[in-house]
Amino acid sequence: MKFFIDTANIDQIKEAASYGLLDGVTTNPSLVAKEGKNFRELLGEIVKIVDGPISAEVVSTDYEGILKEAYELAKIHKNIVIKVPLIKEGIKAVKTLSEKEIKTNVTLCFSAAQALLAAKAGAAYISPFVGRLDDVSTNGMELIKQIVTIYRNYNFKTEVLVASIRHPLHVVDAAIMGADVCTMPFDVIEKLFNHPLTDIGLEKFLSDWKKLNQ
Ligand code: E4P
Repeated sequence: MKFFIDTANIDQIKEAASYGLLDGVTTNPSLVAKEGKNFRELLGEIVKIVDGPISAEVVSTDYEGILKEAYELAKIHKNIVIKVPLIKEGIKAVKTLSEKEIKTNVTLCFSAAQALLAAKAGAAYISPFVGRLDDVSTNGMELIKQIVTIYRNYNFKTEVLVASIRHPLHVVDAAIMGADVCTMPFDVIEKLFNHPLTDIGLEKFLSDWKKLNQ
């Protein structure tokens, strides 16, 4: 399973990349707004840090506008993936972009029916938001199970990119279900490393070793 980081923060991307396990980056307009930097310059920095898919989201909601933004963003670097919202105009644009071999990540997916549309349009990635579903008392990971099954049934090439991840259990469940990618906030990546028994065990090993006086 691929690990993406879900942030536009350069320090977090650098730190996560230094572990050697990072396969890509996803951003969204809210994450970019938090950084207060020029979007294109920010993408230019990110592509230098991570050699993998970097999702950059359009803010137009009409077919022509989405395509115009997509072509401009795609010019920045070969690794830029165009993030498009799951609306009618977005799906139309995804179909056109996939015919031109421009990769897309269809975002704001909250149902299996929507995921089916994205795959049929030729999206490279579908982003179901598990945390936001959990927030409204709907099992987000159940949606991942459904999408993985549907895509396998028809051998769709669209990769299931689990988004809106809130904790390590989302990541473990995604891996058990066979999702292709998890995009995680920095703090979730950090939490994957942690186990209290590891800390206690290491402390004991080191203190026992110290007693040996070698
Ligand atoms: C997906 O690509 C989005 O950037 C993201 O995962 C949304 O997460 P949130 O629900 O924590 O904002």
